[in-house]
Amino acid sequence: MNAAPIVEPGSLYEPINYFLGIGGKRLRPILMLLSAQAAGGVNEDALDAAVAIELLHNFTLVHDDIMDHDHLRRGHATVHVKWDESVAILAGDGLIGLAYRLLMKVPNQHLTCVCRIFTEGVIEVCEGQALDKEFEERVDVSLSDYFSMIAKKTGRLITMATEIGAILGGGTEEEVKTLREYGSIIGTAFQIQDDLLDIMASEEVIGKTFGSDVMAGKKTYMMVKALELPDLTNRRRVFEILRAPQVTVEMLLEMRSIFTASDILKQTSAEIQNYFDRANQILTSFPYPERTEGLRSFSEMLLNRKF
Ligand code: IPE
Ligand code: IPE
Ligand code: MG
Ligand code: MG
Ligand code: MG
Repeated sequence: MNAAPIVEPGSLYEPINYFLGIGGKRLRPILMLLSAQAAGGVNEDALDAAVAIELLHNFTLVHDDIMDHDHLRRGHATVHVKWDESVAILAGDGLIGLAYRLLMKVPNQHLTCVCRIFTEGVIEVCEGQALDKEFEERVDVSLSDYFSMIAKKTGRLITMATEIGAILGGGTEEEVKTLREYGSIIGTAFQIQDDLLDIMASEEVIGKTFGSDVMAGKKTYMMVKALELPDLTNRRRVFEILRAPQVTVEMLLEMRSIFTASDILKQTSAEIQNYFDRANQILTSFPYPERTEGLRSFSEMLLNRKF
């Protein structure tokens, strides 16, 4: 890996280097390396692919912030706000290319397979993002629609991380399948948590705009539940806030109170816990518990994440 950042042309590489430099949890590369470890062992081959998946993730975020009209990410201005939308679109495109450049370093024996998984993943993430946007205009999104959408927009990248990690770690077909399943469950839990944090956490802690999902009319786990509330007064208010031309901070706080008072918050936390338990359960099928220890403590950390 070359540590020196590429700088020219500046209008392409400055925003890319800026975005990569403002942090991020790096959980997809970590998951890839831990999956390689669970499947047999981490080697150099997994390192390039791990950086590639992080670059791909960063592409999705730069474009996602344009699509979601968000100004804040990782506690800093988003790329389209700091520069403009053209710069952000191109920075995102550049990140995909840089991701593939690194991915191509995967050894020949795995290259076709890994590239296929990666490419199918990119397509599915785009499908998930399209559904996420379509759902903004709808109020009849079911939980099943929601789960299919998040499996694509978020679960897919996390599944790619665990599956590719398992392959590069030299896992058997069964191990690769198990780790793919593990990634898909963790990915679901991760997006439900992300939905929860959007409205329950403070902007300072998560480094993202407070209540952005409600303002954009997103059908998050909690919103889907709220649109089906049996209590008519609360349900009406949810619809009113969703349709408001301008969602105020007071409305966001009101929505938060409805989620809390109606038990939706409790149900959401229980759902997240349930997915994490399922993910850990899956790991018990591995013959060597010491190899999956890293994944287990990582998912424990994710479960307790605050941002
Ligand atoms: C944010 O992902 C996008 C989602 C899929 C919810 P992360 O929360 O992993 O973002 P960073 O990389 O840590 O900023
Ligand atoms: C992001 O979902 C999914 C992708 C970027 C593909 P969100 O829109 O919920 O992510 P945040 O909340 O902006 O990080
Ligand atoms: Mg977003
Ligand atoms: Mg989004
Ligand atoms: Mg979100």
